[in-house]
Amino acid sequence: MSNVQRVLSGIQPTGRFHWGNYFGAIRQYIALQEEYEAYYFIANLHALTTIRDAQTLRQNTLDAAIDLLALGLDPDKAALFVHSDVPEVTELCWILMTGTPMGLLERCHAYKEKKAKGLTADAGLFTYPVLMAADILAYDSNLVPVGEDQVQHIEVTRDLARSFNHHFGETFVMPKAHVLEQAARVPGTDGEKMSKSYGNTIEIFEDPKTMRKKIMRIQTDSRPMEEPKDPDTDHLFQLYSLFADEAQRAEMAETYRRGHFGYGMVKKALADLAEAYFAEARKKRAALAADPNYVRQVLRDGTEKARAKAGEVLERVRRACGTAWWG
Ligand code: ADP
Ligand code: TRP
Repeated sequence: MSNVQRVLSGIQPTGRFHWGNYFGAIRQYIALQEEYEAYYFIANLHALTTIRDAQTLRQNTLDAAIDLLALGLDPDKAALFVHSDVPEVTELCWILMTGTPMGLLERCHAYKEKKAKGLTADAGLFTYPVLMAADILAYDSNLVPVGEDQVQHIEVTRDLARSFNHHFGETFVMPKAHVLEQAARVPGTDGEKMSKSYGNTIEIFEDPKTMRKKIMRIQTDSRPMEEPKDPDTDHLFQLYSLFADEAQRAEMAETYRRGHFGYGMVKKALADLAEAYFAEARKKRAALAADPNYVRQVLRDGTEKARAKAGEVLERVRRACGTAWWG
């Protein structure tokens, strides 16, 4: 096995990306493309466990690709592709499933939480961590950048790789989780963690007018203006800090501590900074959206690169476990 270090991650196309996705994940994927051989895919097979409308899934998939490219994912540095375009992964998933103890999956949180709520889970949700293991192992990935909530799935992946290697001989590269910076846990408009499921998001490519309206509606407390405030415990300040440079941040922190300011002023400053921050990406996005053939070509090239690597790994797996009956 070679010395090239590979980074891989998947992102579900379950809706338009928000600030939390950007600062918590996407920005960091993009940075890693500089140092690693990078593979990033749009996890439409995973999204099928929640999106049951064909047109929505199609649209979200394309939007996700365009958003990632607009935000700086460079197709010359990273292979960008759609999950279902690499069938090698689903074959690998089956092979891994034959060695996966039920108990291991019963402990996985997505399934466990759904069951605890009394909802019926399907086999897709139950076996989701095995598909994720296949996603990772198929590319000899060394590093997998993920949020805290996905670390359990990387542990499952390592378990499955270890037990396959033990049983059939050294086959898989052992991947490592790269837990994304928790400092980047972005609060939503209500102060809770920003998440699609809480309806408190501000989307990256929101139309500027809507974005401003959402910012103006960010919940704040009703303490008198004069009162000094602690910037470090304030979610509006946290959001402002994402976009501000060092000097702007220090000045705003000072304003908080002095008191005598209105949250409206902070919101306006936040809106101005956020708009400027994504202005370039917004322009790029408009150009990409107007050129779907280019986007399709990028995804085709990414698929080709991904399939070449996954094919090589799968060949190794087939030989190890004996499904390669011819040799
Ligand atoms: P959502 O909670 O909106 O459904 P996802 O679970 O699809 O978002 O998250 C995709 C990626 O974005 C994950 O790596 C996740 O850790 C990251 N992420 C999502 N929300 C936030 C947030 N508020 N702060 C930091 N990172 C986030
Ligand atoms: N399950 C991940 C999420 O919900 C997405 C994902 C699918 C993924 N396959 C992966 C992430 C492989 C890293 C590696 O965020």
